[in-house]
Amino acid sequence: MHRLIFLGPPGAGKGTQATILAREMGLAHLSTGDLLRAAVAAGTPLGVEADRYMRAGQLVPDRLVLGILEERVGETDTAAGFILDGFPRTVPQATALERIAPATRVISFEIPESRLVERLTQRRVCSTCGTPYNLSTNPPARPGVCDRDGAPLAHRSDDQPEPVRTRLKVYWEKTAPLLDYYAGRGLLLRVDADAPVDAV
Ligand code: AP5
Repeated sequence: MHRLIFLGPPGAGKGTQATILAREMGLAHLSTGDLLRAAVAAGTPLGVEADRYMRAGQLVPDRLVLGILEERVGETDTAAGFILDGFPRTVPQATALERIAPATRVISFEIPESRLVERLTQRRVCSTCGTPYNLSTNPPARPGVCDRDGAPLAHRSDDQPEPVRTRLKVYWEKTAPLLDYYAGRGLLLRVDADAPVDAV
């Protein structure tokens, strides 16, 4: 059974590839970012607390993220395997995952930082299904509307220049140490993410 982790900086293409591969491989796509945004939109207590961290581009505290992740991994659609997109992001999250559902492979999306700011500021996402688009490299067929379900596209509040800079800094400080963590366990596969979507 595949239990894959997609690891990489914001904008590296984790969500784009997870959306495609989950569909092709029959795996569940678990994005902690999407789960947290859904909690924010629903106005739950967790969402209210997470919102201020996310807007600023900071990580949401481990105790909040671990709760929603553990609940999601326990749902029935994960029985055939899953792709974790955006989790774990800290060493304590990685050690907790070993207890919940150990990863079988970790894919590292590698791309120069200079490419990420443009990808993120040009990104638009479907407000209903979350499918990502890019105004420069992957625009929708009809402007402002999702190709899959016709819902309007949204611009994430943390895709503005200031939170983007914070998210990149946080990635290198808190998440990049996981590359050595998983390389040391023989699980890491490095992928060139600075290529067209189909090639990646
Ligand atoms: P999250 O939603 O996980 O965001 P992220 O990790 O910052 O990643 P992104 O979604 O920005 O990028 P991506 O790699 O998925 O790129 P995408 O495929 O969309 O997290 C958001 C926030 O939630 C965090 O800041 C934090 O506050 C909180 N959070 C989430 N998980 C957490 C956790 N575990 N612990 C604590 N806090 C957590 O692509 C980007 C753009 O590039 C798109 O426009 C796309 O069309 C384009 N693109 C993609 N691939 C290509 C390509 N090959 N060529 C050209 N363009 C491409």
